[in-house]
Amino acid sequence: MRETGVAADDKKVFDRFIKKHGTGRSAVIGILQDIQRHKGYVSEAAVRYVSSCLGIPASQVFSVITFYGAFSLTPQGRNQVHVCQGTACHIRGGGKVSEHIERTLKIQPGDTTRDGTFSLHRVRCLGCCALAPVVKVNSDIYAKVSQNQLSSILELYK
Ligand code: FES
Repeated sequence: MRETGVAADDKKVFDRFIKKHGTGRSAVIGILQDIQRHKGYVSEAAVRYVSSCLGIPASQVFSVITFYGAFSLTPQGRNQVHVCQGTACHIRGGGKVSEHIERTLKIQPGDTTRDGTFSLHRVRCLGCCALAPVVKVNSDIYAKVSQNQLSSILELYK
């Protein structure tokens, strides 16, 4: 039995993911994606467990997580708020939109509200620059967002 700090229930689930993807080095991303989806983040204990099961250094698993923005090492809120800070959004007031959301939620980008309702992220481009400034909440895109709209948008997810 591997001592990695992973709870027995989580081990069963992680083992299922490992069985699904295999134990080759190329399986790491798929396993981590499944863990991220299942837990909302990939804990350090999960990293050690995957590292142990696949026989690769934990540092390599950590490097995958830190390279891809889709992974998080800390628990995330129920709702993911992405505020675009790409050039088009920046020119059209994305900075003010971001500041307004930070003040409203009382958190900085990268943080999660105390009640676990929202995590806030700044992103470079959401791929819909003509709609700038853009805010994405989970999979919902809000176009040409004004500061006045933000409170009612966030209210939808409480
Ligand atoms: S710069 Fe914001 S969507 Fe592209």
